[in-house]
Amino acid sequence: MKEIYFYTPTKIYFERGGILKYLSLVKNYGKKVLIVSGKNFIFKSGIFEKIKEIFEKEKINYALFSKVNPEPDTENVEEGVEFCKKEKCDVIVAIGGGSPLDVGKCIALRAMNEGHIKDFFGEVECKNEPLPIIAIPTTCGTGSEVTRYAVIIDKLANTKKTVSNEKIMPVMAILDPNVLDYLPEKLIGATGMDAFCHAAESYLAINSDYISKFFAIESLKLLSGNLKKAINGDKESKEKVFLASTFAGYAINRTGTIIVHGIAYSLTIKYGIHHGTANALFLPYVLEFMKENEYQEEIKELEKIVGSISELKNFLTQIGLPIKLRDIGVKKDDIEELIDLSIKGCERAMKRMKFVLSREHFEKIINSAF
Ligand SMILES: [Fe+2]
Repeated sequence: MKEIYFYTPTKIYFERGGILKYLSLVKNYGKKVLIVSGKNFIFKSGIFEKIKEIFEKEKINYALFSKVNPEPDTENVEEGVEFCKKEKCDVIVAIGGGSPLDVGKCIALRAMNEGHIKDFFGEVECKNEPLPIIAIPTTCGTGSEVTRYAVIIDKLANTKKTVSNEKIMPVMAILDPNVLDYLPEKLIGATGMDAFCHAAESYLAINSDYISKFFAIESLKLLSGNLKKAINGDKESKEKVFLASTFAGYAINRTGTIIVHGIAYSLTIKYGIHHGTANALFLPYVLEFMKENEYQEEIKELEKIVGSISELKNFLTQIGLPIKLRDIGVKKDDIEELIDLSIKGCERAMKRMKFVLSREHFEKIINSAF
């Protein structure tokens, strides 16, 4: 048996009303909180008002950085770092989807370490311990609350890059299923499919092991059985999808993702397509490609858990997600550029594949998705 190393520092509170009940624990980690969020959701949903109430009642000092872009880049991170230093915050509460969580992690790292966030892309050690991070996910996709990753756009390189460091794993995560009541159905589908891709890609990664597969399979079962019902508003199914996204987070924390994410980055970079939607679109075509190329057995096993690839396509259509590039406005002439972006996006993922994909391979996948 392969040797096992397993580390997870994140206390998980999974409970309805968990934000009200546990957020004041932030006092154990610092004197002044930096709340990191996107621009709209926490205000429209009323979540910010709740947090404000808790902080005022508990006399917790805080500053708010609510400028995280839907697809944050390095400048967005550095803006947050400057604000955090100016406000002298010493603990981060990152609330939202993957973007605020990832930016929160980067701010925590950079606030304590000189340089620029670009210096920490890849697996780069940091000298000083980052600020403690408390993660409050409000979507059911990212899994970032339990991972060592933060994914940020590097505009100069025209791709997404990853900070991978155990020290940015949150100390605590509050998963309060009530937050999903504010999430539009379409986003439950798209973020749920992001989690689905995390689990499926982790399952297929060559570095997967007993523990990553344990989480990936459980996540895939929960998602297959509950995502549709969750989109239709069933509360218990939403809880299960939420939990599945955290399980998928544990899975990718061990393995990373493979080429679905790497290829999907191209759609987000070029067209600003939502991360989960982009992943979901490419997933069936990547699976078909893998089935024909050295992954027959693995894909068959996966299909036993989640159903066939054609069923997956039907499912995506049923939940209102696009399954063809031309349906989202991609032009035939753009395909060459998408191939270039995909090759760049898959650099890290390629290490987790059985073989290195050629340009022709990417062309094949993207053309079938077209
Ligand atoms: Fe993802």
